[in-house]
Amino acid sequence: MTYRSGRHFLQIPGPTNVPDRVLRAIDLPTMDHRGPEFGALGLEVLEGLKHVFQTTQQVVIYPASGTGAWEAALVNTLSPGDKVLMFETGHFATLWQKMATKLGLQPEFVTTDWRRGADPSAVEAKLREDKTHAIKAVCIVHNETSTGVTSRIGAIRKAIDAAKHPALFMVDTISSLASIDYRHDEWGVDVTVAGSQKGLMLPPGLSFNAISEKARQAAQSSKLPKSYWGWEEMIASGKTGYFPYTPATNLLYGLREALRMLREEGLENVFARHDRHAEATRRAARAWGLEILCAVPEEYSSSLTALMTPPGHDADKLRKAILEAFDMSLGTGLGRLAGKVFRIGHLGDFNDLTLAGTLAGVEMGLELAGVPHKKGGAQAAIDYLAACAKGPGSQRKAA
Ligand SMILES: Cc1ncc(COP(=O)(O)O)c(C=O)c1O
Repeated sequence: MTYRSGRHFLQIPGPTNVPDRVLRAIDLPTMDHRGPEFGALGLEVLEGLKHVFQTTQQVVIYPASGTGAWEAALVNTLSPGDKVLMFETGHFATLWQKMATKLGLQPEFVTTDWRRGADPSAVEAKLREDKTHAIKAVCIVHNETSTGVTSRIGAIRKAIDAAKHPALFMVDTISSLASIDYRHDEWGVDVTVAGSQKGLMLPPGLSFNAISEKARQAAQSSKLPKSYWGWEEMIASGKTGYFPYTPATNLLYGLREALRMLREEGLENVFARHDRHAEATRRAARAWGLEILCAVPEEYSSSLTALMTPPGHDADKLRKAILEAFDMSLGTGLGRLAGKVFRIGHLGDFNDLTLAGTLAGVEMGLELAGVPHKKGGAQAAIDYLAACAKGPGSQRKAA
């Protein structure tokens, strides 16, 4: 291995770049998780998470990847044989559906072409058809990381209400929390699933459930086996900031710092920054003449953009060329999208110049890998970013 100077550009849609402040916070001596100081740490991070989930209800933290929090959402609330309504928005929705099947649930899986989100009117129609209320939960991936499509959670809530259906509403925000506006309480979500390694700017290893009162009620009669994932013990010990088992102490130091940083920037500004970088990326894509995978403009993701390479041009070869020449990692095409798309992550600890560097790397890589494109994508993005920096209203001039 030879030393490569400069920072590696980790532009996959998570894990994201961990800011120095968070890295330094993690690099503290591990403390006694039953000692006097730990409770204050636990209470601060649980409170800070509520702000990010936009909830006043319970939050629990697992030392686990996001997959663990998916499982926790299902096993705490449901019983063997329960029907759940899921939408095949992409690779991650498919994995969650497979997990539900393995756990003994019966998912009804509404298919899509992997270019759009869960359709609120389809949710309403499915629930209206379900006269006996056999469907116990509607499970939606808010931001489908494999496609760069964001489902409209507020509209889906309205659809559930319009159908007057009592199903629980569960939402995966693993690649949207702290990047794209998300409102656990206002949107009446019963269980929100999240992870540490994306918008929260932490390494992988923590995951979360935000839990409504209705979900806690459902947990009382849920029959799926659970032990490690069980909420009640965690909620009980969380009241004093402690865990029922050994927590991931150093990741919690990092979480405390990340939550402070998000407060300092302000959630509104965090969301606006992600929206701006996503728009700049799409302007680059259009200038290059590359197709954006997301087919519905109101569902464009602000945390990543998946671009299609022209037929006959392997997206993974492009990614390889970019990694080798410019030391930048981009997201691969997952599942049925393998070789057909590459994904640009623009979430987490990220600014205008990081995006400019990222898009310059993509444009040079397109040239290097011989992918047909027009020049000027990075310039189109820069023009937009510069116009945004001049203040509100000036973005239009860059159009
Ligand atoms: C939307 C979404 N859901 C679930 C997962 C699975 O999370 P993990 O890989 O942390 O277990 C991911 C991972 O990238 C994801 O992006």
